[in-house]
Amino acid sequence: YVIGVDLGTSAVKTVLVDPQGKVAFEHSESYPLSRPQPNWSEQNPEDWVKGTLVSLRRLIEVSGIDPSQVDGLSFSGQMHGLVLVDKEGQVLRPAILWNDTRTTAQCRRIEKTLGAKLIEVARNRALEGFTLPKILWVQENEPEVLSQAYQFLLPKDYVRLRLTGDYAMDYSDAAGTLLLDVGSKTWSAEIAEAFELPLSLCPRLVESFEQTGTLLPDIAEASGLLSSTKVFAGGADNACGALGAGILGEGRTMCSIGTSGVVLSYESNKDLNLEGKVHFFNHGEKDAYYIMGVTLAAGHSLTWFKETFATDKSFDELLSGVASIPAGSSGLLFTPYIVGERTPHPDANIRGSFIGMDSGHTLTHFTRSVLEGITFSLRESIEIVRDSGKEITEIIAIGGGAKNEAWLQIQADIFNASIVKLESEQGPAMGAAMLAAYGSGWFTSLSACAEAFIRPADVYKPDPKQAAIYDGLFNLYQEVYGQTRELN
Ligand code: XUL
Repeated sequence: YVIGVDLGTSAVKTVLVDPQGKVAFEHSESYPLSRPQPNWSEQNPEDWVKGTLVSLRRLIEVSGIDPSQVDGLSFSGQMHGLVLVDKEGQVLRPAILWNDTRTTAQCRRIEKTLGAKLIEVARNRALEGFTLPKILWVQENEPEVLSQAYQFLLPKDYVRLRLTGDYAMDYSDAAGTLLLDVGSKTWSAEIAEAFELPLSLCPRLVESFEQTGTLLPDIAEASGLLSSTKVFAGGADNACGALGAGILGEGRTMCSIGTSGVVLSYESNKDLNLEGKVHFFNHGEKDAYYIMGVTLAAGHSLTWFKETFATDKSFDELLSGVASIPAGSSGLLFTPYIVGERTPHPDANIRGSFIGMDSGHTLTHFTRSVLEGITFSLRESIEIVRDSGKEITEIIAIGGGAKNEAWLQIQADIFNASIVKLESEQGPAMGAAMLAAYGSGWFTSLSACAEAFIRPADVYKPDPKQAAIYDGLFNLYQEVYGQTRELN
């Protein structure tokens, strides 16, 4: 067996995976998130460690397997979160998470100081969620904390440090810091110096599938595993989600709809320059990349809608009639900017809208227009990927958005591509398990592992008539941002 540990924002999920890629057991432990001030989002790294150990122990206990049967474990982690540790590995302040947006001023400082260098080297724009703006916030507001810092780590790297005693960060997660020279896979001395940060703050860089140690004896005891269990570095949750969906070849693309929505496409050309319109990060596979667009409120828009207007209904009840409403929701159009947007509008202040309301519209029309608006927003990312020269005719659908047939057909029609649903989808946790499987020598490549582990279940083909209707509406959708941005 191998174990995948997915360190998420609300919970840690562990999966025990057999050599055929079947999940034998899984377990989740949730932990709190604190919002001490508006726009702040923090967690106590100790909660991650406790949750991980409890979850591992439950996995071993419930499965009843002999711990010697576990070859290795690896991680998938929430990206960008800042954990500052001193020489003894002690955490110096609560972790500042990816969804914390206190750093607008620091983002402006980065863009102003680095100019075109930022995209050239870090390959991404400065966004509030990324790590460098968070380090600069600490530098400006808590200089005594930064002066005590020995290294900065990302969430899963801190958990791995506690499990193994080893300081390291993998390329896929390091890419989300804005301190990595993404193309040459080294820390950028130029960027660090521009902000008077010692390069020694940056941990040793490793590949996601590289072994970084074994379990410390007390950790082995607490988790029920053996201290000889191999630990592999792991990757960013989006990279691991991509591995778990088999995004391991040029043009392979996935659309993940969870709280936020992600369009992610494999990229082999390290020099591809999309001018920061989409994120450009290192993949979990060696010397591979991916480009990614993000809709901040994807599933979140639907949850908000249900909790505000249909509290008495389950999601299944709410979605039950949407297939019988015509494409375009009889003139009703929704933009999902209820918490701002990332791609293609990096704008934290824009807000959403319903346009074209008619007295004949029902709750089901509104529900369908929410699904369509979320999907239009994701199509904007798909068009950027297509504009880069990629032909996208097939997209792997994962996450909550892959659970509803009507929504899968809407995705096929709005994206004008076949949508593939997987047989058993485990998201980033499976990607983490694949890193452990490949790292342990079960397969000769991650692609061979994907072939053995990932099986398609259903395909939803675009209907040309519906696709044509949506093409027209997509033009209209794209105009809404420009027309409504001043309203906020
Ligand atoms: C990616 C991002 C999120 C987090 C969620 O840039 O901010 O997808 O990785 O954990």
